[in-house]
Amino acid sequence: MTVLSGARALVLGASGGLGARITSQLVAAGATVVGVGRDADRLSASGASSTLLADLRDPVAMAAAIEQAVAGGPLDVVVNAVGVVAFGPVAELDADTVEELFLTNAFVPMFAATTVVGRMAPGGVFCTISGVIAEQNLPGMAAYGASKAAGRSFSEGFGREARRAKIRVLDARPGHTETGLADRAIAGTAPNFPAGLSADHVADVIVAALADDSVKDLPSTAF
Ligand SMILES: NC(=O)c1ccc[n+]([C@@H]2O[C@H](COP(=O)([O-])OP(=O)(O)OC[C@H]3O[C@@H](n4cnc5c(N)ncnc54)[C@H](OP(=O)(O)O)[C@@H]3O)[C@@H](O)[C@H]2O)c1
Repeated sequence: MTVLSGARALVLGASGGLGARITSQLVAAGATVVGVGRDADRLSASGASSTLLADLRDPVAMAAAIEQAVAGGPLDVVVNAVGVVAFGPVAELDADTVEELFLTNAFVPMFAATTVVGRMAPGGVFCTISGVIAEQNLPGMAAYGASKAAGRSFSEGFGREARRAKIRVLDARPGHTETGLADRAIAGTAPNFPAGLSADHVADVIVAALADDSVKDLPSTAF
């Protein structure tokens, strides 16, 4: 087991629907959590032990946030719950949308891993949330799915590499989850999704996996 009580944790996207739930569960389990995001009110509502405001698309801001998070010692748990979504046909995709999707969903986990991996304790766990779309892409979500598949692929390679440093890397791929993300799309309008997974359930599965060294992956079927 990865002991969460007394663990030092960093949650990127702690202001979000999943990030806030993961943050509050980690704190309840006895971890000290640095929560990072852009919305100060939602960050403080997450219950994080301390908070940092940063636009994580900027690698300099990412590095500064991680520098502060590791000031008290190496990290045991890192969760990346940062993400944005966009909808619409390929013919209507514009370059700004594609850029923001890839910066947020693909570059952020790569910047985070690059910056934090040397600052994690052996036995630590790094988890990023890609989503079921990284397993099979869908019409109207092609660029979002591609950005998530890039994040998933990165985690696969990073995970194999990080084993030597005894860092476990998890890629979580839940299906549609009721956090309101789909209503905050940066472009387009969400299709009529059937009722999604509960955000509490998805956070429960992720936090249980953070604590369980035998879990090496979180495919859609784990949710
Ligand atoms: N909800 C779903 O159906 C679903 C399904 C599968 C996978 N996922 C993935 O799960 C993750 C969490 O999603 P969610 O449903 O919890 O969405 P959410 O509530 O909208 O949370 C998204 C988080 O990303 C942060 N964020 C976005 N851009 C950022 C930036 N440039 N710099 C810093 N923080 C940034 C937001 O911070 P601020 O609000 O403070 O800006 C927020 O904390 C995402 O990667 C999402 O793609 C979600």
